[in-house]
Amino acid sequence: MPPRVEQSTSAQELATLVGPLEVVTGARYLALARRVQELLSTGRLAAGSRLPAERELATALGLSRVTVASAYRELRETGHASTRHGSGTVTELPEAGVVWGPPSTDPGVLDLAHAASEAAPQLTDAYREALAMLPAYTGGHGYTGSGLPELRAAIADRYTARGLPTDPDQVLVTAGTGDATDVVLETLLQPGDRVLVEHPTYPSALAAVEAHGGRCLPVPVDADDPDAVIGAAQLAARQSSPRVAFLMPDFSNPTGARLTAAGRRRLAATLWQQGVLTVVDEVSAELYLDGGPLPPFAAGLPDAATVTVSGLSKAVWGGLRIGWVRADAPLVAQLGDVLRRRQLSVGVLDQLAATALIRDLDAVLDQRRATLRERRDLLRAELARRLPDWTVPCPAGGLSLWCTLPPDLGSAALVAAAAPLGLVLAEGRAFGTGHAFDDHLRLPFTRPADQLHRAVDLLVRAGAAVRGGADPRPAGRALAVV
Ligand SMILES: Cc1ncc(COP(=O)(O)O)c(C=O)c1O
Repeated sequence: MPPRVEQSTSAQELATLVGPLEVVTGARYLALARRVQELLSTGRLAAGSRLPAERELATALGLSRVTVASAYRELRETGHASTRHGSGTVTELPEAGVVWGPPSTDPGVLDLAHAASEAAPQLTDAYREALAMLPAYTGGHGYTGSGLPELRAAIADRYTARGLPTDPDQVLVTAGTGDATDVVLETLLQPGDRVLVEHPTYPSALAAVEAHGGRCLPVPVDADDPDAVIGAAQLAARQSSPRVAFLMPDFSNPTGARLTAAGRRRLAATLWQQGVLTVVDEVSAELYLDGGPLPPFAAGLPDAATVTVSGLSKAVWGGLRIGWVRADAPLVAQLGDVLRRRQLSVGVLDQLAATALIRDLDAVLDQRRATLRERRDLLRAELARRLPDWTVPCPAGGLSLWCTLPPDLGSAALVAAAAPLGLVLAEGRAFGTGHAFDDHLRLPFTRPADQLHRAVDLLVRAGAAVRGGADPRPAGRALAVV
């Protein structure tokens, strides 16, 4: 089931999105229905939006009420809307079959469903150092509560150096960033609470909102106009009173959008004033490839206004399961209680290695950024050369390209055609509420050059198979997307 969403669209807003209806052949109601379907599949209209009353939309569009009623009926018949008692007509996307390709541990398979690089070269030395320190800890019971004190101190010091003064008791160590997000949402959400999310967004965040009883309230993100999300978020916060916002201000996954310094200050302050607690995912915050660092989203606000989650998976390695939460100390204590109900502690050796890596993180990041910059440029150049009808952005950071596919190529079909060729991808719909974004494909640039060349080669072949009419949709299982 796609995550539940709650949002209203006014007649005027929908009329603006629909724009002028050009009816060359066929009925006007069908043109309106097709246009709404297109808005849904590209994510400009969220699944779960309450549509305006027929009469109001008819007036806003200058159409008859019968035309709008017929368009709504068409949308219901194609699975793009349903009528809910007391809620009017609510948009939906037809239930998706396979959203992500099957997982593979086969070394012959090229996995671009995961936006993650090989380990940073400093990792093995950090573990050697950790191993040398381990005997000083083995006499105790090995459970470290909210985290090893030296790791909590290293994390706090890094926030302080980035302009966000932090005490170690404001830090909770977790088994990765996803674990941090999950424990935060589990603690904060009551069933039915609304959660403002960027759209598109990180699929596991959508899943975590759903798992903890929340309802997603999507606001569109546009990497070309990153601060446009502010107005949309303000409006959504005023209209729908979300309890929490989940944001990735630096290099949002998958779009790579980055809020400006002024934009993030404004958004952070407004959400706080409107009583919305912002969960800030910073896992890619220091992966800027053009430009430099910007102040953390949480800087300048009271500590109770935000909860920041982050970790070392993107900077160092996904196999080092170390993440954390930074929040005000009372909330951290509460989060620690929730975390310990499911796991007593995080591994000591990993925490010791993480401490060494965080103390030396600038060197790790310098190297990581240089490699990612090269790979981003290479993948973009290869795509421009081999797939010139794709629209490929140039994100200023992060790990992925959020590509717009040509109109005759859906990402579900492309991903399905790529899997048998040995290329595993996450299709666009994974990043939308109600599975929008079939016109997009996220392509991580995290692999070495030879693999990126091979990936583009396979994409060319998969595209040809789809256009040649190959069966686009073999059965498969869901794959977690990172
Ligand atoms: C935005 C975002 N948050 C969290 C995660 C998960 O990170 P971790 O491996 O540290 O749990 C990812 C992984 O892709 C991510 O992109």
